[in-house]
Amino acid sequence: MEKVIVLDFGGQYNQLVARRVRECNVYCEIYSYRTPIEKIREMDPKGIILTGGPNSCYEEGAPTYSRELFEMGIPVLGLCYGAQLMSHVLGGKVEKAPVREYGKTEVFVDATSPLFAGVGTPAENVNGIVWEDHKTNTNSTICWMSHFDYISAMAPGFRSVAHTADCPVAAAECAEKKLYAIQFHPEVLHTVEGFKMLYAFVRNVCGCAGTWRMDSFVENAIRDVREKVGDGKVLLALSGGVDSSVLAALLAKAIGPQLTCVFVDHGLLRKNEGDEVEAVFGKEGNFDINFVRVNAQQRYYVKLAGVSEPERKRKIIGEEFIRVFEEEAKKIGTVDFLAQGTIYPDVVESGLGGESAVIKSHHNVGGLPDFVDFKEILEPLRNLFKDEVRKAGLELGLPEFLVYRQPFPGPGLGVRIVGDVTEEKVKIVQDADYIYREEVERANADYKAEHGTDAPWMPNQYFAALTNMRSVGVMGDERTYDYAVAVRAVQTVDFMTAEAAEIPFAVLQTVMSRIINEVRGVNRVFYDLTSKPPGTIEFE
Ligand code: XMP
Repeated sequence: MEKVIVLDFGGQYNQLVARRVRECNVYCEIYSYRTPIEKIREMDPKGIILTGGPNSCYEEGAPTYSRELFEMGIPVLGLCYGAQLMSHVLGGKVEKAPVREYGKTEVFVDATSPLFAGVGTPAENVNGIVWEDHKTNTNSTICWMSHFDYISAMAPGFRSVAHTADCPVAAAECAEKKLYAIQFHPEVLHTVEGFKMLYAFVRNVCGCAGTWRMDSFVENAIRDVREKVGDGKVLLALSGGVDSSVLAALLAKAIGPQLTCVFVDHGLLRKNEGDEVEAVFGKEGNFDINFVRVNAQQRYYVKLAGVSEPERKRKIIGEEFIRVFEEEAKKIGTVDFLAQGTIYPDVVESGLGGESAVIKSHHNVGGLPDFVDFKEILEPLRNLFKDEVRKAGLELGLPEFLVYRQPFPGPGLGVRIVGDVTEEKVKIVQDADYIYREEVERANADYKAEHGTDAPWMPNQYFAALTNMRSVGVMGDERTYDYAVAVRAVQTVDFMTAEAAEIPFAVLQTVMSRIINEVRGVNRVFYDLTSKPPGTIEFE
């Protein structure tokens, strides 16, 4: 399989680079810049991309790579730090820039460079500067810049193929050796035509045919699983989340009833969620597997009674999950494989870029391998990004509502009920959350019908939580003393930072009045405006 590799120099966009390459239908993996050259040779990549990074390449001890990397005849594209490093290693000069560039910047590109074919619109007499290298065929386009250092002298054999008002070498190439350096970040969406540039590198310069497709992934994965599992038995802890659901569907197609899925309903799921999962994977569903639903709600409520300390709650939920699962696993007996929904970001985030076997640590599966009798772990999704997992899910015939589910924490509503958890509180938060989701979805669907796209305020994650506060209110002629529900909605790319979404006030008002009218025990609704940081997305 043709492959492009990304060498990670510590940049914040490393995964994004790999995802974009895969969007060009070319398989891509991320490796640390410490990966030895022999290993890279062995992988026989069609191209290599060097990422950005926080260092200055001329400083002692800064991440670097030997000259050999650029002499293997394999096309190399350096991005930001990677561009500077390429120049530095090959004999150019990198220095602190007189002007730091940050943000969306107009870049003038030489449209005769293979990287910039068809990029930008014609620009003439740019800033009155005539650039010897590319005074004709100069196009203007908007790119995302973020750098303190700049390439002040190119390495021998290179020519500048892009510049900005402040940066004489915004991109350079040595076409003969297929070496390319780009100072800005084509991988982020702020670089309006960045995808075109990456596509040009991967497909035209590297000559990749672009055969990485989800339908062929699914086909191959099914074949591999069959080969590996033979007539063995496989056990999967199904949480109903995207990864474990797609995994279940894949295994079901591959080995059918040799698979047993254990789904633990811990009583902290969203409204109807347990039944929805059962409808897809249970007896009435389309998959011919063994599906075991464990209704452990009461066990959890008993264990959680009176516990209000957040970490303690998480711990109890996690430990109880292992207990319940262990009991079920004992009934099933020894299995050959324990399947896990590890995906590529889990692998990369371990810091070793595809080199280590990571076990997901959140409670759905965390610690399980120590308690279950099995011979080997099966992780067929470990090379996929989340959006690819979703595509695979659709290929496998999973319903859209499952495939496009928002993230839901392993400890479930346990972290959305501030203070101690009771069955009554669970019911309140489930009902409020259901109404909230219904109204947000409805408002977004209305927007979509009119404008053809999702509403600009549409959150990446939104839910209701139960504050531990009760306050006085009036309903009809009666005084009430009831709970306050908080509704939260965030827009985020990576869930590491997030902003409160600007849901239209009218939508929030409908949500408020429906929750107070329809959910018993609630007389106040708050909208959470906190961004992350300083807040977290969940409440506990
Ligand atoms: P926080 O609250 O840390 O959440 O800002 C960031 C993202 O992670 C999810 N989250 C969890 N997911 N187990 C999970 O599987 C957990 O214990 C957990 N805690 C938070 C949260 O929903 C958000 O998407």
